[in-house]
Amino acid sequence: MKAYPEPPLDSNLIVKGLRTKRLGRSLVVLEECTSTNDAAAQSALEGAPHGFTVIAEEQSAGRGRQGRVWISPKGGMWLTVLFRAPFSVGSVNALPLIGAVAIARVINSNLGVRSRVRWPNDVVVDHRKLSGVLVEAKSKGNELEYALLGMGINANFCTGAVKEIGQTSASLLEILGSPIDREPLFCSILQETERLYELLASGDLGGIMKPLLSLECSRGKRVSLRLQDRRIEGVFDNYDGLTKVCIVTPAGLPETIDTSSVVSVVYL
Ligand code: BTN
Repeated sequence: MKAYPEPPLDSNLIVKGLRTKRLGRSLVVLEECTSTNDAAAQSALEGAPHGFTVIAEEQSAGRGRQGRVWISPKGGMWLTVLFRAPFSVGSVNALPLIGAVAIARVINSNLGVRSRVRWPNDVVVDHRKLSGVLVEAKSKGNELEYALLGMGINANFCTGAVKEIGQTSASLLEILGSPIDREPLFCSILQETERLYELLASGDLGGIMKPLLSLECSRGKRVSLRLQDRRIEGVFDNYDGLTKVCIVTPAGLPETIDTSSVVSVVYL
């Protein structure tokens, strides 16, 4: 796999640049792991605190939604944040959008990129995927124990040089024409994720919906959804809070879909 030659991540720069209360305050930066979600799950078992974060230079078995492989060469930004209970099922289901909004806001304001959020969990630039979010939760009995917010950003490598990555992907290097400093970006993403999560925890959904609606690019698009029990095709009409969306079927009927029941999404 061809990667852009660059200095390795400097964990001291991340620690020095962090302005968060909890997120990233307990931090591990790995040369390589299977998946930062795996590494964070292992640390969660061993008692890692809320906000614990794993960053990896490279993932050998990065994974995406719906069991897909997530190709994760050196030069990317691969991280997972541990969120410990107490939290409601609703707030776990809102985490993918929180991650996507945090990434898009930071990339746009820090780097001047015009990225958008594509429901349910992508950050895209000109319809090409720059970043994806994978949330995995663990329950104990009926109780949610923790959730892992995994975020992947194609940063300092050329997606075109990695044959396993589809042509509908993009990287910051390709968009900007030169590599970025990843350390300050990690800090800003952790800070913005924490800010949005605090809004969610305090019930201030409006504080999240406003940036989401200004960044989103799914409304008006035709989509085909595979749900747990059926398929539905229609036009993405709007968000109904952070965990539901409204799809208008070809018959003109609005249907409210819970994002957690969605198995796969294809934009037509
Ligand atoms: C998707 O779009 O399908 C989600 C991709 C999520 C990738 C990130 S990279 C960090 C974390 N570790 C993983 O194995 N996956 C997520």
